Parts: sequence; C-alpha cells; structure tokens
Amino acid sequence: MLTTGPKCLASVRTKPKQLRLDAIRCVNLRARYWGYNLDTRALRNTLGQFATGVCILTTQTSDNRSIGMTVNSFAAVSLDPALVLWSIQNTSECFKEFTECERYGISILKSSQQALSDRYARSLAHEMDVADRIVDDAGVPLVKDALATLSCRLTALHQGGDHHIIVGEVDALTHSEGEPLVFFSGGYQRLA
Ligand SMILES: Cc1cc2nc3c(=O)[nH]c(=O)nc-3n(C[C@H](O)[C@H](O)[C@H](O)COP(=O)(O)O)c2cc1C
Repeated sequence: MLTTGPKCLASVRTKPKQLRLDAIRCVNLRARYWGYNLDTRALRNTLGQFATGVCILTTQTSDNRSIGMTVNSFAAVSLDPALVLWSIQNTSECFKEFTECERYGISILKSSQQALSDRYARSLAHEMDVADRIVDDAGVPLVKDALATLSCRLTALHQGGDHHIIVGEVDALTHSEGEPLVFFSGGYQRLA
C-alpha cells in the first residue's frame, strides 16, 4: 500500500532499516505520481548540463525551397546500418517539412559558425540563404563549410511527448578538421 503524507516521510529519520527503505520507496512513488508537476525550468537546467555540438538540419520542401533549423538533439544510433536521430518540437513551423521529407541533411557547425546557429534558430526565417548552402548529389541542401555533414534518408518517426524523434539512414558524409561549436548550460562555449 502506498502511504502518503508527512508520517511516511518522518519514518525516514526514526525507524529501522526496512521502514527506512519503505519510506524511500514511498517518496519515489510519490515523485513518480507527481511527475507531471516536474519543474520545467529545473528539467531544462538539468538537461542543459549535457554538453552537445550544434547542427543545422536542412531539407528541400515540396515547393523547392531549402530550409534550415538549428538543433542540438542529434545523436548517433547505429553503425551498421548507419543510423542517426534528432528530435523536432511538435509545434515547430518546420514540423511538416522534416517529418514528411524523404531526405534531409545534418551539418555539424564549427565554433566560427555561431551566427549561423542563431540565424536558423529564428522563427519565420528558416528559408536558407543561398550563400549558406551547398546541395549534394542526392539534392539534399547542406551548410557550406560545416565541420561535418551527413546526408540522410528518413527511415522512422517516433512520437516522444512534445517532440517527434526522426531516425535517418546515412547515405553520404563529409568531415574536416576544426573546432566544433559547443552548446552547454544554455549558451555557446569553446572547448578548453
Ligand atoms: C542550440 C539550439 C538547439 C536547438 N535544438 C533543437 C532541437 O533539437 N529540436 C527542436 O525542435 N528545436 C531546437 N531548437 C530550436 C529551433 O532551432 C528553433 O529555435 C525553433 O524551432 C523555432 O521555432 P519554429 O521551429 O517554430 O520556427 C534549438 C535551438 C538552439 C539555439
């Protein structure tokens, strides 16, 4: 039975080991029950302690525009087959384009490309400037002079709360030497 209230918490301090364990379990269950109350700011701050690179995700729309969006949820999934993932907010104005496209590009930014990261994180401004763009053999737009690029085919889409997880198989890639743009604790950082 799940005991609730201060009595249950008080036993943490005063009772023998088994009761203490029961009380800890009770606190954990209550935390899970109250999970919907999790402080969003605290969650953002906690997740922000995970340092990431910064990418610009790109695709060609059905009406032939190249769009770009700044993302740091990119992660490797599998080497064989070569799979990667990233997640997009369900409310993003780019949601339809990225969840319905066949192919998309991932451009990993250099430390000198912070302005591009800011540029493609703005709402109502996702259409790519021609000067920022190259197009690969598969017709996928990519960011010019990026540290590394992956040209992907969308292979799976999963719901994940207020985001969707987009999985892609890598068809082509490029990489170069250089310092990555790093995002940590809500801001850009340099590698020490
Ligand atoms: C460093 C950084 C990382 C971001 N990572 C993501 C991400 O992984 N997924 C996402 O949907 N939006 C991410 N965003 C937000 C988008 O770039 C963009 O600001 C947001 O999509 C704007 O809303 P819109 O898509 O409706 O235009 C990130 C923004 C920044 C600056």
